[in-house]
Amino acid sequence: MKHDLLGLKDLSADQINHILETAAAMKNIVKSSNKKTPHLQGKTVVNLFYENSTRTRLSFELAAKYMSANAANISSSGSSVAKGETLIDTAETINAMGTDILVMRHSMSGAPHLLSKLVDASVVNAGDGMNEHPTQALLDMLTMIEHKGHIEGLKVAIVGDAKHSRVVRSNIYGLTKLGAEVSVGGPATLLPMGLDKMGCKVFDNVHEAIIDADVVMGLRIQLERQKKGLFPSIREYFRFFGVDEDRLKLAKPDAIVMHPGPVNRGVELSTSLIDGDRSVITDQVTSGVAVRMAVMYLLSRGGF
Ligand code: CP
Repeated sequence: MKHDLLGLKDLSADQINHILETAAAMKNIVKSSNKKTPHLQGKTVVNLFYENSTRTRLSFELAAKYMSANAANISSSGSSVAKGETLIDTAETINAMGTDILVMRHSMSGAPHLLSKLVDASVVNAGDGMNEHPTQALLDMLTMIEHKGHIEGLKVAIVGDAKHSRVVRSNIYGLTKLGAEVSVGGPATLLPMGLDKMGCKVFDNVHEAIIDADVVMGLRIQLERQKKGLFPSIREYFRFFGVDEDRLKLAKPDAIVMHPGPVNRGVELSTSLIDGDRSVITDQVTSGVAVRMAVMYLLSRGGF
């Protein structure tokens, strides 16, 4: 029986901890001078990306190569998707080539779930619409553990555009399962219905969400949202909902600053915070390779 990673909603705390412990070991490999292990020798990993990506796609590719897998990338532009081939036909084509792990990003929520029913390969969700981005939340949690020592009892503030964010959903599932207290803050127009039913506190402002936080995570604003009237202007957004040094004073004095990237400088976070001592954004990127190594290794060995 094959195993997938489609979201954190369906994983238990034990399964999440198992991935995080494996990822912590993998991080030593990422940081070492010899990044070649036999963990996925003979396996084939295909990245199928229907949306733009820098971090996720490259880290899955490097993770596969570090573990000696055969790794290939397909994007919607430059493949037969651009000629009108359906998702299902593309998936079946990739499946027929002996793919063991299929990593997929798609703008449609549920696309990896559909794919998982059609292919023999293990499917990893690399972000589906506004649903989930499970490996992002796992790398966020690994980074928090490295800086704070634990997840249980942490106060995590996630601020920005929660409505369109798959990152916030996966983080809420994962963090609450591991015992963190999650607060989400942002403009009322960018808060999705039902968020409070997911086990977090919800505020229509940023300052209440940040008070006493151990972790402050900015969420990317998709600038095209402004055209739809969801916030008045970039300058006003930063003034009322962005995080700078002054606003960060509401959090604990040793609070860390995170962002999944790509970041809009001076919109979600001030440039000085992004580049400052309390920013762990670069560590998140390194954790991303380790988490993706752990996920693919565990899937190849029978799951979590
Ligand atoms: N955080 C994240 O998913 O970044 P990319 O879109 O660059 O992959």
